Amino acid sequence: DLSSKIQNTQFKNLFLNASGIHCQSKKELEELMNDHYSGGLVTKSATPNSRFGNPLPRYHSLPAGSINSMGLPNEGFQFYLDYVTHSNIQKPTILSIAGMSKEEDLELLHQIQDSKYQGLTELNLSCPNVIGKPQMAYDFASSNQMLKEIFAFFKKPLGIKLPPYFDLVHFDKIAKILNQYPLSHVNTINSIGNGMWVDIESESTVLKPKGGFGGVGGAIALPTALANVRALRQRLNSSINIIGTGGVTTGQDAFAHILCGADMVSIGTQLYEEGLGAFQRINNELIEIMKAKGYHSLDDFRGKLKEQ
Ligand code: DHB
Repeated sequence: DLSSKIQNTQFKNLFLNASGIHCQSKKELEELMNDHYSGGLVTKSATPNSRFGNPLPRYHSLPAGSINSMGLPNEGFQFYLDYVTHSNIQKPTILSIAGMSKEEDLELLHQIQDSKYQGLTELNLSCPNVIGKPQMAYDFASSNQMLKEIFAFFKKPLGIKLPPYFDLVHFDKIAKILNQYPLSHVNTINSIGNGMWVDIESESTVLKPKGGFGGVGGAIALPTALANVRALRQRLNSSINIIGTGGVTTGQDAFAHILCGADMVSIGTQLYEEGLGAFQRINNELIEIMKAKGYHSLDDFRGKLKEQ
């Protein structure tokens, strides 16, 4: 049994697409909605208007992961709101939003509040790839102020997507802020911002935008992702669920995320590289590990990581 919950939303299994992967176009969303092995659907982070995103090339596969600087290509907020309110919804949805400013974020949240949408919303405070738009969640005071303004009017289930933190003091600081608000969940981690990759033959960057700087994901992000899930689970109120994102390529990786405290697990780079079949394979691999260990539900081991 791989069922799991975020607040009162029940998912048939814990696996989600990472936002941005297989969730931008109508066709991708339909395929994801119809995939039997993903527990829920997360939409590409929406801005008020549609965007082409950054110039190409903007995604590059690495030996053990990926680097990208997509720049928020998306069909615009109304398209995704329509999709999650009007389509043939067969699994829970998470509507991801990423305004270009606090004002835009508040405006989008007002529109969600006033709509008939009853699913989960996720505010992306951590996109690293838009020039002039800092990763808000690295600014603790601004994040706190923003959440204060949001929860003054927003009454639907809301989570936030966080960037990775690398200092234990930063975990203390962000958790102290987040614990003041009735968040449904945090999603940790977004890509590791502003990495660099070099093509030796051409002696060049591999990405066009931003002089080659881009967000790093995939297997090489797994230790950072596990640390962020673990550190936040140790600090956040138990009412705040955790979506573990980062570096999951196998059932073992998902098992590790759950041991660290993840309620849900999302798959980004591996889903992009392998396609939707990754869901079935990783589901099966996790079930095999649980069988071998005699576990029947995720609660049997979630958060129960042992220390040496
Ligand atoms: C993009 C990348 C991210 O990591 C994110 O959170 C949002 C958007 C992007 O470049 O499109």
